[in-house]
Amino acid sequence: MLARACAQTHDPGIRYLRGNLERVRLQASSFDLVFSSLALHYVKNLGGLMSRVRRSLISGGSLVFSVEHPIYTAPSSPRWRTASGRRFWPLDGYLEEGPRSTDWLARGVIKQHRTMATYINMLLRLGFSISEVNEWGPTRSQRASQPGWADERKRPAFLLVAARR
Ligand SMILES: C[S@@+](CC[C@H](N)C(=O)[O-])C[C@H]1O[C@@H](n2cnc3c(N)ncnc32)[C@H](O)[C@@H]1O
Repeated sequence: MLARACAQTHDPGIRYLRGNLERVRLQASSFDLVFSSLALHYVKNLGGLMSRVRRSLISGGSLVFSVEHPIYTAPSSPRWRTASGRRFWPLDGYLEEGPRSTDWLARGVIKQHRTMATYINMLLRLGFSISEVNEWGPTRSQRASQPGWADERKRPAFLLVAARR
């Protein structure tokens, strides 16, 4: 992904770095915006990372991120089921936070399940003010134009959050 980003965008103002989010060091009060797309549900010590992110933002700076939605990460076996002619998402273990092993692109990929309350309270306790929360699923018209998304309005796949320091 980094190689592709470097090849596509030659902006001298952009530095591409590869690092581990579990221990990345961020300079204090140095960013207007921290953005993350679908990566934070792999991070074990999310509280530690969010605390470092908050310190790295200027006052009034924004944090915007997406993660797989807690309803999506919770199940022990996250696959659509059919019973009595109805398709449903087998939600279980919602309140049991912690690792989930899934086979997606590779076998045994570990993600970290957290409840909605944990994400929200983590930000509030760190002193973020939450600007917007969105439980994303396709609109009806998007679903109509994408036959593969037939089930995607039965439960949200993604959680998107915007917050400010
Ligand atoms: C589902 S992909 C999302 C990729 C991209 N951000 C996007 O939205 O298309 C998850 C990404 O998180 C990265 N990731 C997972 N754990 C990480 C960690 N501890 N430190 C840094 N990156 C991590 C993976 O390498 C992968 O690139």
